[in-house]
Amino acid sequence: MHYNFDEIINREKTGSVKYDLRERIFGDEKVLPLWVADMDFRTPDFIMGALQKRLEHEILGYTLVPPSFYQSVADWNKRRHNWMIKSEWISFSPGVVPALNLLVMAFTQPGDGIIIQPPVYFPFFTAVENHGRRLIANPLRYEQGRYEMDFRDLESKIDKGTRMLILCSPHNPTGNVWSPEVLRRIGEICIRNKMLLVSDEIHSDLVFTGFRHTPAASISEDIAGITITCMSPSKTFNLAGLSTAYLIIPDAGLRKKYETLLDHVHVGSGNIFGFIAAEAAYGKGEEWLKQLMAYLEGNLMFLRDFLAKHLPMIGVVSPEATYLTWLDCSKLGMSPGSLRSFMIQEAGLGLNDGPQFGKEGEGFQRINIACPRRILYEALVKMHTAVKNYFAK
Ligand SMILES: Cc1ncc(COP(=O)(O)O)c(C=O)c1O
Repeated sequence: MHYNFDEIINREKTGSVKYDLRERIFGDEKVLPLWVADMDFRTPDFIMGALQKRLEHEILGYTLVPPSFYQSVADWNKRRHNWMIKSEWISFSPGVVPALNLLVMAFTQPGDGIIIQPPVYFPFFTAVENHGRRLIANPLRYEQGRYEMDFRDLESKIDKGTRMLILCSPHNPTGNVWSPEVLRRIGEICIRNKMLLVSDEIHSDLVFTGFRHTPAASISEDIAGITITCMSPSKTFNLAGLSTAYLIIPDAGLRKKYETLLDHVHVGSGNIFGFIAAEAAYGKGEEWLKQLMAYLEGNLMFLRDFLAKHLPMIGVVSPEATYLTWLDCSKLGMSPGSLRSFMIQEAGLGLNDGPQFGKEGEGFQRINIACPRRILYEALVKMHTAVKNYFAK
């Protein structure tokens, strides 16, 4: 079956964060929204079909996490990432961001140090700071249009009170797919310093040709023993509204501690539709995902070509994974505040502002390219016209 990713679907007034919060976020309900990380593509037929079938049974009472859900997660990880996991290692979470917060609460105390690697997805900052933990920034190094980890800085910042490192793998917003060597080094540093490694791998299925995702916990048994991996079908299959994610925790003691907290806050039962959609996605989604990745790669190429030809002042940090693309706008020479208002008011675009991801994001914007190519084209024309007008003044 051929899936049509060119179809433009109106999402306004569907309760969509991306569309219906524009006035609140950007002060303008008309900006073209290419920000929050969901996709403007139709939910595939095999997922909609499974949901519709469940709706025929017209009782939607309290639900268990079905055992078949755990099995589908294990099968998917074996097929996609060559990672053999046991069903009993898997725990439910109503989302990856909720999981990050629960893990911070379960495994650290107020005042403990937690390392994150900015520029990074902004809820990493709040997961640490909202609970009174100490944020330790180990910024990625940006050199010649590429980001890499700074191990020397990392080791120098670990102190006795440092308990956890939250890894983003693949990395949002820079699009890095971390190599097994990098992951081994990170894992070994955590082991040596008695730190827990929380690995957010929500983007792990969205990897471009030539790259391969390695789950950090698959590197060695020792690393698996201190690692909690957070995953979800929500990015891959565009199911964020169903609030269904999972953690893989090989160590029984760590798993028990997490599940006890999950129980105490009564969010462990999940969402009937989330499990049905996840199983349909993982059971039948390979072909759709293949076509999705080909389309996203086409969009990425289109973006790169357009900018190289018409707007070479804006650099693309080419993602190895994810549909989130990090644009280096530093050559425009605007201050952080004025770059944001330029994109909103002059270009009419709703992007993610670089400094949301930490001060390292100054001069950058994040654009979400998971939209029909015609919309991406429209966005790039708007950007080009605004920059032309800006320099013509
Ligand atoms: C790295 C990362 N983690 C987590 C999330 C969100 O996860 P959830 O919707 O399951 O809370 C996102 C969404 O953009 C993300 O980029």
